[in-house]
Amino acid sequence: MPGRPSLSNLREALDSCRACDLWEGATQGVLGEGAARAQLMMVGEQPGDREDIEGHPFVGPAGGVLDKGLEQAGIARDEVYITNVVKHFRYKARGKRRIHQKPDRWQVSACLPWLEAELQVVQPEALVCLGATAAQALLGPHVRIGRDRGAPMPSELAELVTITAHPSSILRAQDEAERREAMDMFVSDLSNIASWLHAR
Ligand code: URA
Repeated sequence: MPGRPSLSNLREALDSCRACDLWEGATQGVLGEGAARAQLMMVGEQPGDREDIEGHPFVGPAGGVLDKGLEQAGIARDEVYITNVVKHFRYKARGKRRIHQKPDRWQVSACLPWLEAELQVVQPEALVCLGATAAQALLGPHVRIGRDRGAPMPSELAELVTITAHPSSILRAQDEAERREAMDMFVSDLSNIASWLHAR
C-alpha cells in the first residue's frame, strides 16, 4: 500500500496485492474510477466477469443498470467515483462460464485498506453503498438493505452515508413489474442523493 496514496499509485500497486487469494483466479485488480475529488462515491461489491476482463468497475450488465439509474436521477457518471469493496473477481468456473460468488468476510476485510485509501484520496461528501456486501463492510453486519435503504446512516466516512440496492438485484427481478418497481426505488434513492448534493 503506497504511503501517500493517489489514484494512480494505488492502481499501479493493486496488481501486486496478495492480501487474500482472489488475485490467483482474476485477470487483474480493478480499482475505482472517476473524478479524484468527486462529491459522490458509490461502492459496489466486486468486479464481475466483464469488469475483470476490461479492468474497469461497473461496465457489465450491472453497470448498465447503474448508468440508467444515474441518468434518470440526473447524476453524471463522470462526476461520481465508482468503486467496489473487493477489487478482484471471485467466481466458480463452470465449463467456460465464470459464475459470480460472493466474497467471504475475510476476503472483504483483507481488501478494505484499498477502499480506505480511495476514501482518503477522494474524500467524498456523500457515500452510497450499493447492496449488502458494501453496506455491511462499511457500516457493520446488522445493516439490512430493505430496512435501511435511503436513510442517512450514522458514519464518519462522509457527511452523508446511505445505502441502496445493488444494481444486480434489479437484474434478478422475477418479472417486468417487479423489475420496474425495483428500478423506481433505485432511482428514487439516487434522486434523493442528487437533491442533497444540489442543496449544498
Ligand atoms: N458488480 C459490482 O458490485 N461491481 C462491479 O464493478 C460490477 C458488478
